[in-house]
Amino acid sequence: MTRLAGKTAFISGGASGIGAATARLMVREGARVAIGDLQDEAGQKLASELGESAAFVSLDVTSESSWESAVADAEAQLGGFHIWINAAGISVPAAIDGASFEHWKQTMNVNADGVFLGCRAAVEALRRSGGGSIVNISSTLGIRGGSAFPAYSASKGAVRMLTKSVALRCAEQQWNIRCNSVHPGATETPMVEPYVKMAPDREQGLAMLASAHPMGRVAQPQEIAAAIVFLASDDASYITGVELPVDGGFCA
Ligand SMILES: NC(=O)c1ccc[n+]([C@@H]2O[C@H](COP(=O)([O-])OP(=O)(O)OC[C@H]3O[C@@H](n4cnc5c(N)ncnc54)[C@H](O)[C@@H]3O)[C@@H](O)[C@H]2O)c1
Repeated sequence: MTRLAGKTAFISGGASGIGAATARLMVREGARVAIGDLQDEAGQKLASELGESAAFVSLDVTSESSWESAVADAEAQLGGFHIWINAAGISVPAAIDGASFEHWKQTMNVNADGVFLGCRAAVEALRRSGGGSIVNISSTLGIRGGSAFPAYSASKGAVRMLTKSVALRCAEQQWNIRCNSVHPGATETPMVEPYVKMAPDREQGLAMLASAHPMGRVAQPQEIAAAIVFLASDDASYITGVELPVDGGFCA
């Protein structure tokens, strides 16, 4: 397994869930990874587990100055980047009847502004290395609406169209940079724990999430990571601007 030999990846939201599973798989595939996250302790723990192939950098995706220092820190530790994963995100339910404006702004700030800043940093960094691949993590709710998730769904729709626009610009300019989005269905990570806990027990909570997915189960983070690694790798060398649902048939 050396599909990513010689490559270096930056992963926002890399300390947990899908981002962490992606960091682990990328290292197994021969890459070196910078894990950028708000969660210093979890990020540092994962970086030490992954050894010399990984470094943790403190990152708040909503802050321009944090991006600047995180990228400088990551480049100082690992050199130039060829792969960029924007996975940091938050999900808080609040239906339109009653959702506060603060809730909307916070969700858009992390999920949409954070990916905008991440893509801008990625294009600059990947151009310095001669090109590469950006993968943005949207959601099935970036393709279909969710009655309890108007802000989340809108933020993930923004990620979907931002991705295509970045892909077109990079292709037109012949920068050798691809940009695609992955749209996970319900995936068993800390993000879904609050929903799982709403049910009388864990099994019923997962079954409730699974019931919306034709395959009848939720995803494991490794299954999302596998799709991310495919799009990041040279196996996807002619794929740019696509949205890839990894959702057990939810969007079919
Ligand atoms: N788990 C799911 O069911 C699911 C489904 C569809 C899409 N997604 C998306 O996948 C991505 C990863 O989610 P996950 O399930 O792994 O959740 P998670 O909560 O396990 O991981 C999200 C990570 O993002 C980090 N983060 C949050 N705000 C940040 C900020 N301002 N700056 C830097 N880091 C920040 C968190 O610290 C955490 O490590 C998210 O974008 C999420 O919206 C998840």
